[in-house]
Amino acid sequence: MKLVVVSGASRGLGLGFASQLLRRAPQSTIVAASRSGTSDGLERLMSEYPGRILPVACDVTEQASTRALTEQLKADLGGAKVDLLLNVAGKLHGGQSSAAAETLPSEYMPERSLGSIDATAMQSVFATNALGPPVLRAAFRTLSGAVRHARRVGAIVANLSARVGSIGDNRHLNSAGPYQEKRDQAALNMATVNMAIELRRRDVYAVSLHPGTADTGLSVPFQKNVRPEKLFTVEYSTASMLDVLDGLSPSDSGAFFDYAGARVEY
Ligand SMILES: NC(=O)c1ccc[n+]([C@@H]2O[C@H](COP(=O)([O-])OP(=O)(O)OC[C@H]3O[C@@H](n4cnc5c(N)ncnc54)[C@H](OP(=O)(O)O)[C@@H]3O)[C@@H](O)[C@H]2O)c1
Repeated sequence: MKLVVVSGASRGLGLGFASQLLRRAPQSTIVAASRSGTSDGLERLMSEYPGRILPVACDVTEQASTRALTEQLKADLGGAKVDLLLNVAGKLHGGQSSAAAETLPSEYMPERSLGSIDATAMQSVFATNALGPPVLRAAFRTLSGAVRHARRVGAIVANLSARVGSIGDNRHLNSAGPYQEKRDQAALNMATVNMAIELRRRDVYAVSLHPGTADTGLSVPFQKNVRPEKLFTVEYSTASMLDVLDGLSPSDSGAFFDYAGARVEY
């Protein structure tokens, strides 16, 4: 059995990853985590692929919640090892989620200047985007590693980042853009590098991924500035990123890739 954990799986790219993996990896079981626990989209997948998807309520910013998730998996799946952890949960604006646990005001938009910074909102989005992935990965400390499967590398942790978080890419630094997205993704990228260094000995590899601009609730308020051919469907973006993961070799661990498999500088 191949065990995949996807955070942020109730909709958007997380749901897209779950859907793709159910088709591409017929032996896989998908643990689909989000604060809502389930969604119409997940329920459709559950009826299409009975027994292969386990929806769970988990807040990646709460360590007690991520630990409870791993305890539940130990009980339900008998301590199976995780082959792939996709850290997809993320926040950009207040209109994204109707989860009861959402603390961002619905009118919140990413701050584009120092004058509009809101410290409470910044903490909420930073906790999700930059702290959530290492917190979730830490909960799986005893569950993954040393897992061999039909790929050239061992278990993989893939962190959904964004090109705007690249400090080396001046095209993005020169434009005044959302402080929080640039800051959170740069911090997440450093977490990816650190995970790669720490986990390589255990045959666990970590990468950051840039999905392009995909048509999800997260990107809706920003789509008017995107050329139509650059606004990807969830299917295209997630299938492309899975192709990138399938092609990884051990020396790629710690790197940042875009949806087309090109390296993005940090
Ligand atoms: N879409 C794009 O164009 C784009 C571009 C660049 C990068 N990304 C990155 O891709 C990732 C996914 O974005 P998306 O477009 O799929 O967003 P989305 O459609 O809004 O989905 C976000 C997902 O994250 C979950 N979530 C939010 N906070 C959570 C928390 N604390 N704990 C657990 N789950 C949580 C949401 O479910 P609940 O609300 O039920 O918790 C939902 O399932 C993000 O990290 C984003 O930064 C996306």
